[in-house]
Amino acid sequence: MTLPNGLTVEAARAEADRAYELDRRHVFHSWSAQKQIAPMTITAAQGSYVWDGEGRRLLDFSSQMVNTNIGHQHPKVIAAVQEQAAKLCTIAPQHVNAARSEAARLIAERTPGELDRIFFTNGGADAIEHAVRMARLHTGRPKVLSRYRSYHGGTETAINLTGDPRRWPNDRGAAGTVHFFGPFLYRSQFYSRDEAEETQRALAHLEHVIAFEGPETIAAIVLESVPGTAGIMVPPPGYLAGVRELCDRYGIVFVADEVMAGFGRTGKWFAIEHFDVVPDLLTFAKGVNSGYVPLGGVAIGPQIARTFDERAYPGGLTYSGHPLATAAAVATITAMAEEGIVDNAAGIGARVLGPGLRELAERHPSVGEVRGLGVFWALELVRDRTTREPLAPYGGTSPAMAEVVAACRAAGLLMFVNFNRLHAVPPCTITEAEAKEGLAILDEALAVADRHVSGA
Ligand SMILES: Cc1ncc(COP(=O)(O)O)c(C=O)c1O
Repeated sequence: MTLPNGLTVEAARAEADRAYELDRRHVFHSWSAQKQIAPMTITAAQGSYVWDGEGRRLLDFSSQMVNTNIGHQHPKVIAAVQEQAAKLCTIAPQHVNAARSEAARLIAERTPGELDRIFFTNGGADAIEHAVRMARLHTGRPKVLSRYRSYHGGTETAINLTGDPRRWPNDRGAAGTVHFFGPFLYRSQFYSRDEAEETQRALAHLEHVIAFEGPETIAAIVLESVPGTAGIMVPPPGYLAGVRELCDRYGIVFVADEVMAGFGRTGKWFAIEHFDVVPDLLTFAKGVNSGYVPLGGVAIGPQIARTFDERAYPGGLTYSGHPLATAAAVATITAMAEEGIVDNAAGIGARVLGPGLRELAERHPSVGEVRGLGVFWALELVRDRTTREPLAPYGGTSPAMAEVVAACRAAGLLMFVNFNRLHAVPPCTITEAEAKEGLAILDEALAVADRHVSGA
């Protein structure tokens, strides 16, 4: 038997063993106590599946870091990277190159409003760094507001903007960031009973934070259009429009972080399109080329673009608009458009994943809430539906959560996991049959979670 990359299972296993040994000796892993981890080896991938070091096939409901929106090993993207490598591998950012120009055009064509100028970075965190820098220079103000329950990246400003426990060890209180509570009805900070109340109270709270911080000190509000890692909390109707209105009233730059939610994930090119709102800056990465080559960027609206017409922008990167990365973006966006991949994500969400996950929630008492859009879904696991006590504490894990994740893995399903949540975030290319296969495995794994429900 051979894997999709042509390796026999035996050869793949031998490669995996050697890779694992070297990894444990030499590779330093992100966000981890190095001696406490046993990372999974992946030897091959195709479409919605990956193969582990034992040659076992797993359905990838994680899209890795929620980035392989076009699926694994899409032939058109592979061919584009190969062709570009043969043509021109790398060029300094001050020069024009065809791949970068075309990628910028394709992105500008899809971003809402007039976000027509594209500054390319190497990933999501540096896109946030540059968006904040642009906002500070544009307004002449120092502070940046972001919400609790958010993730914006691992670099200095981005991690300080982040509203999850990964910020704590990196927070020395000097990055000019201030946090506020965003809307999240299931665990409302505002004792709201419905979405309308949550919107109104969350906006009143934000306006108070602006007033007490001093509007003239605030350069930007940075918000994920739909917060991802922190829990896929789709904002209630009117919230983002209200934030836009507050930004306009106080001269604050609105930065929409679409690093995870963009490029088809929610069933539209950009998640903010669901809410009919146009930000001043929009950050992207991940799905722009499904991570085949690292790429991110900032789409810049006309007002901020004008600030830098006659004044030099003080920032740059050696690999800004790297030819291999932008050629991968051109092929990815073109294939997504030609193959109706964004519509597929919307359809799978509306017809299969949404109804299927809600049906699981009805039968499994461990599911407190299901929420999402497109191929972007969270299952909130709880010990008790009444108290909503999570199956793992905020910022941590628990033996119960580990058991559920292990049950998924043993049955051939790779989930994205954060604290007490399972995220069903497969590629936007997933078929109906594959989505149903994932739901069937989840059904079995949730029976494991149910055993930890109080009184069960
Ligand atoms: C919303 C959001 N912003 C920024 C980032 C950081 O992106 P990167 O890991 O490419 O630096 C992430 C990564 O998960 C993200 O989800």
